Amino acid sequence: MAATVICLASSKGGCGKTTLTAVLAGVYATDYRVLIIDADAQARLADGWYDESRVPANISMAKADHKTIGAMIAEGRKNYDVVLVDVEGSASLTLANGVFNADCVLIPANKSTPDLRDAMGVVDLVQQYNAQGGSRAYGVVWNRVPPAIKSREMDNTAKAAIDAGVPIIFEVCERDAYRSMFSYSTTLTKLDKKEVPGVGKALEESLRFAEAVAQAIIDSERKEVA
Ligand SMILES: Nc1ncnc2c1ncn2[C@@H]1O[C@H](COP(=O)(O)OP(=O)(O)O)[C@@H](O)[C@H]1O
Ligand SMILES: [Mg+2]
Repeated sequence: MAATVICLASSKGGCGKTTLTAVLAGVYATDYRVLIIDADAQARLADGWYDESRVPANISMAKADHKTIGAMIAEGRKNYDVVLVDVEGSASLTLANGVFNADCVLIPANKSTPDLRDAMGVVDLVQQYNAQGGSRAYGVVWNRVPPAIKSREMDNTAKAAIDAGVPIIFEVCERDAYRSMFSYSTTLTKLDKKEVPGVGKALEESLRFAEAVAQAIIDSERKEVA
C-alpha cells in the first residue's frame, strides 16, 4: 500500500487531536507500519505518551515543527504505511504545512458553536488547497459526544454543520478508556481489559472510526479520478 498521511488539525486546543491520533495509531498498527509525527511544541505524544516498551512495536515517533514538518512527512511516506500528524492547536504555519502535505485532514470538534466555527476555518483551508490541486479527504470528527443524552446545544451544532455543508466523518464518544491510553502510555489494543473498564467498547468504536477514515480517503480518491 502507498503511504497515507492523515493530519489531525484544528486551530483550537482541547478538541481531541492528540487523543484521536493515539486512537488511530493503535488501530492502524495492527496491520501497518505507523509513524506519528508530533508537531505540537507541547509534545504530549512524543514526550508524554510514547513509551517504546509499551506501545505496539510498529508505531514509531518523530517530532517536527513548522520548518521540518514537510520534510518529515515526505520521509514518513517512504518508510511507513500510515503517517499520523498531530499539530498544535493554533492557526499556525505548522497547521498549514501539515494540512498541505496530508492526504486526509481530520478536524476534531466538540459539538459546540465555537468548535464548529473553528472547524469551518480548517475546512476553508483544505478547500483552498484542494482548489489549487490535490484531493485531500477532509471532514469533522465530532469528539467527546456523551454516549447517552445529547444537549440541545449539541443537536443545534450538528444541524448547523450539516446546513453549512461540512462533511462529518465520524462521532467519537466521551470515554474514560481514551484517557487511560495516556495514564498507561499505550494504545487501546494494549490496555488491560480487567484494569480499565470500557476498553472493549472503545476498541469497537475505534475500529469503526478507522474504517470511516479509510472510506473518506477512498471516496476522495474516486472523486479525483472522476
Ligand atoms: N473521546 C474522549 N473521551 C474522553 N476524553 C477525551 C476524549 N477526547 C479528548 N479527551 C480529553 O480532552 C482533553 C483534550 O484532548 P486532547 O486530545 O489533548 O486535545 P488537543 O490535542 O486537540 O488539544 C484531554 O484531557 C483528553 O483526555
Ligand atoms: Mg494536542
